[in-house]
Amino acid sequence: MSDLPPNHHADLRHSGPSGYISGLTMIVGRGNDARLVADLADLQPGDHVLDIGCGPGTAVRNAARAGIRVTGIDPSEPMLREARLLTRLRRPAGEVEWAQAGVEDLPLPDASVRVCWSLASVHHWPDLEAGLTEVRRVMTAGGVFLALERRSPVGATGTASHGWTADQAAAFAHMLTEHGFVSTDVSNHDMGRRKVVVVTGRT
Ligand SMILES: C[S@@+](CC[C@H](N)C(=O)[O-])C[C@H]1O[C@@H](n2cnc3c(N)ncnc32)[C@H](O)[C@@H]1O
Repeated sequence: MSDLPPNHHADLRHSGPSGYISGLTMIVGRGNDARLVADLADLQPGDHVLDIGCGPGTAVRNAARAGIRVTGIDPSEPMLREARLLTRLRRPAGEVEWAQAGVEDLPLPDASVRVCWSLASVHHWPDLEAGLTEVRRVMTAGGVFLALERRSPVGATGTASHGWTADQAAAFAHMLTEHGFVSTDVSNHDMGRRKVVVVTGRT
């Protein structure tokens, strides 16, 4: 097993001026990730989706364009400012809500969303136990949680390390089982040059 846990970049905060710059780098090139989770979640009319660590909101807008109600949450004010601005420029059909919050304290009632996803974010969560307890709390029965990360080779450094090795994805899938998720699954997806792994758990 890899020495590093699935949240091996928990110390990085996307705040201040660097948060705006990070957000700008995430505005392009994330469309395929957004479409992948929407497909895997098999979105249905009437769904309420929660995007945890939404950043500038690509996956939120993608789902909302199909008329789905989506809540995007992120602890980073710069990210949410960019998300709101981009969404105002081109309003999607579905209802969109934003909230400044971390996964450890989700501003949603119990059993309120069927679909929950987190793209390139879990590796930053400071407390996986607290985060997964919250994710499980807000999800309805029959729901699906998807955690997407870039695939990282063992020993990667710099930007390439912002993702999961196969061992880190497997460790996160095991944690989902420990938090009461069922039918957990790890799938790899090659989308051109971008290679991602998706860990899925059902409620
Ligand atoms: C690499 S960005 C990904 C943004 C977006 N999901 C995307 O794919 O474009 C990681 C995001 O996770 C957020 N994040 C960090 N800690 C978090 C936490 N405790 N709870 C929820 N999101 C968090 C960051 O603020 C940042 O917006």
